[in-house]
Amino acid sequence: MEDSTPKGPYSDSVMDHFSNPRNMGEMEDADTIGEVGNPKCGDVMKLYLKIKENVIVDAKFKTFGCGAAIATSSMATEMIKGKTIDEAREVSNDAVANALGGLPPAKMHCSVLAKEGIDAAIDEYLKKSN
Ligand code: FES
Repeated sequence: MEDSTPKGPYSDSVMDHFSNPRNMGEMEDADTIGEVGNPKCGDVMKLYLKIKENVIVDAKFKTFGCGAAIATSSMATEMIKGKTIDEAREVSNDAVANALGGLPPAKMHCSVLAKEGIDAAIDEYLKKSN
């Protein structure tokens, strides 16, 4: 894991979501949990979703990772709440990074963690409900 304090050319929005993450924590009654690791750095994310009639009604996350991973996890949970699971799958890591005002190129791989967390949680949900 890298030093968790974002440095360098981070947008205000990245700094805001890093300093004040939205939806951080565990969810006791989650319908599904996605757990993913970033092979590039070993950082991990756990994403908890509450799903009603295919709509994501609540999302929470726990990320042990760098500042960019925490900021993208935070933004990703905000972006998928209220979306159907199909719509949530369409949320790309680029879209999350763009919503944060962009990430330095060297940190783009960090946004992949959030994207994979969403996919893993939805895959798990579909596996369980089938
Ligand atoms: Fe690991 Fe950013 S350095 S997710």
